[in-house]
Amino acid sequence: MAVNPNWDPERYARDAAFVPALAAPVVAWLAPEPGERILDLGCGDGTLSLELVAAGATVVGIDSSPEMVRRARARGLDVREMDARELPFVAEFDAVFSNAVLHWIRDGMDAVIQGVARALRPGGRFVGEMGGFGNVAAIATGLLAVLARHGIDGRPLVPWTFPSPPRWRERLERHGLEVERLELVPRPTRLDAGLRAWLELFAGPMLTALPQDERDQAIAEVEELLAPALRDEDGRWWADYVRLRFRARRPATAGS
Ligand code: BEZ
Repeated sequence: MAVNPNWDPERYARDAAFVPALAAPVVAWLAPEPGERILDLGCGDGTLSLELVAAGATVVGIDSSPEMVRRARARGLDVREMDARELPFVAEFDAVFSNAVLHWIRDGMDAVIQGVARALRPGGRFVGEMGGFGNVAAIATGLLAVLARHGIDGRPLVPWTFPSPPRWRERLERHGLEVERLELVPRPTRLDAGLRAWLELFAGPMLTALPQDERDQAIAEVEELLAPALRDEDGRWWADYVRLRFRARRPATAGS
């Protein structure tokens, strides 16, 4: 699992507030009902879990980052520190929800989905959103080009996976889930904190391959390369996000 090891909840809340703020479509696909029991897979600081609680659901969150777990618990949430590939739950959730997390799991995705399918009660749904095929293509290409200039092959360091709709459908179906909706949606996303802040927060596993004293310069080079594509007339940065949004269901007749 290629998860960013350095999640800083304060920095995330400051520079990545757009992540939960732009989650309304996937929450709408989930359509949480009062009294439902929902697993928030990769709940982070719990911002979206709290929305589900406000809708009347009972929410259990899991996250692999101890810092995020601490922050979410401080907000009154039931959150367990856990690797998403090792879900221990059996037929106990009406829904599993996940936003902007699954693309960090480069290895072991089948174990994640198998655990999700097992965690759902028969008839329960798995609803999520992640980066899909083509996500941050310009940013990734800019980073790889600059790393190459600095003598580093960054390809094995890319920490994300962005599946295409057919591949994602196949994975869900492999574990017995029936896909109800699946969409790939381009969603250019304004980076109010700028591209540098995005790179520092989300591209750590690539940037840390550079010697410390080259990182600032490398980020400036990525900015210079990408400005014509990702900076608008008013000087604001946009990330070339493409979302993969899905809703799948464990068949009502399945055994646990
Ligand atoms: C995303 O949400 O699509 C994303 C986040 C961090 C890095 C790459 C993509």
